[in-house]
Amino acid sequence: MVDYVVYGRGCFNQLDEIIAPRRKDGRPMIFLVDHFFDGKPLVNRIPVRGNDKVIFADVTYEPKTTQVDKLSKQLKDEFGNISGVIGIGGGSTMDLAKAVSLMMTNPGSSADYQGWDLVKYPGVYKAGIPTLSGTGAEVSRTTVLTGPTRKLGMNSDFTPFDQIMLDPELAANAPANQRFYTGMDCYIHCIESLQGTYLNEFSKSYGEKALELCQYVFLQKDKWDDECDDKLMMASYAGGMSIAYSQVGVAHAVSYGLSYLLGTKHGIGNCIVMNHLHEYYKEGVDEFKRMVEKNKIDIPVGICKGLSDEQFDTMIGVSMGMKPLWENALGKNWEKIMTREKLRALYEKL
Ligand SMILES: NC(=O)c1ccc[n+]([C@@H]2O[C@H](COP(=O)([O-])OP(=O)(O)OC[C@H]3O[C@@H](n4cnc5c(N)ncnc54)[C@H](O)[C@@H]3O)[C@@H](O)[C@H]2O)c1
Ligand SMILES: [Fe+2]
Repeated sequence: MVDYVVYGRGCFNQLDEIIAPRRKDGRPMIFLVDHFFDGKPLVNRIPVRGNDKVIFADVTYEPKTTQVDKLSKQLKDEFGNISGVIGIGGGSTMDLAKAVSLMMTNPGSSADYQGWDLVKYPGVYKAGIPTLSGTGAEVSRTTVLTGPTRKLGMNSDFTPFDQIMLDPELAANAPANQRFYTGMDCYIHCIESLQGTYLNEFSKSYGEKALELCQYVFLQKDKWDDECDDKLMMASYAGGMSIAYSQVGVAHAVSYGLSYLLGTKHGIGNCIVMNHLHEYYKEGVDEFKRMVEKNKIDIPVGICKGLSDEQFDTMIGVSMGMKPLWENALGKNWEKIMTREKLRALYEKL
């Protein structure tokens, strides 16, 4: 779990004070900031001291193992070692920060650690500051990376942040579409966790709360305001806690294939898939559709049109590889239920 959590409007202002005891002589703090904030006022509020460095993370594409390896090598070459990494941004930037922290102390390539419990050593100090709400990357024990052969996280006890700062003000100006897609990541985490076979009281307690908060902001509110940002940031946290002790399910397993082959982003990819999962999550999908309608969001259709057999096979391979997700969704005999043919038919609908 994350060791330290602060929450509240304006808590970003405490960053300097919070990281002060973590500074090591002569070693810089690295602020890895979502490139959206390049040239924005937030950058001037970052407590840069001594040889600290601000690096803008290009998150045009979701994080890759090559990008993580390049960043950590660059930091090793320039500084030898560093005091820590502070990731400020959406799920992509937070994942990059987690992975770079781990690769400052673990040998080889980040691709070597894609899987479960492969990371050997704790990374350098790492803190996460979300500017979009929904992924739960701020609390999870994974960092999702696209590598040479798969899209899979570095899942380990060393992966969670040492500190997170949840300041809803930072999410205030996110565009409505992006906010919805990332918010739906949280909603879908809740549906997949609450209807999964891995469910237990720990996951349920957090999942139910996150679900209630998502329903409030996306169905009950008529206008987006500060209260929505406050609530969605806590929904993301609780949704992340819920899957920490369970798993995600069909939407994520299928969406990973899209993302690997077509580069479809996580939030929107999940929405594209969720639209067609009535068979698995009936009530959740009905409610999801009401949210889409109420918030006037367009969900792309026809993205798999014209793909070759080989391309479908690639997606099916990536998706089928997510065994824990399928097992959570469909039970131990999932391979009998979700055959390659059935999955192909589902991809064709997208
Ligand atoms: N580690 C985990 O547990 C976990 C869980 C779910 C998803 N993820 C990962 O999270 C990523 C998706 O994250 P995301 O949905 O937060 O989006 P993102 O981080 O990919 O960012 C999406 C876009 O929003 C911009 N952006 C960020 N903050 C903004 C703000 N306040 N205002 C305006 N624009 C802003 C970014 O620059 C980017 O263009 C994927 O890479 C996915 O794999 C990780
Ligand atoms: Fe997700």
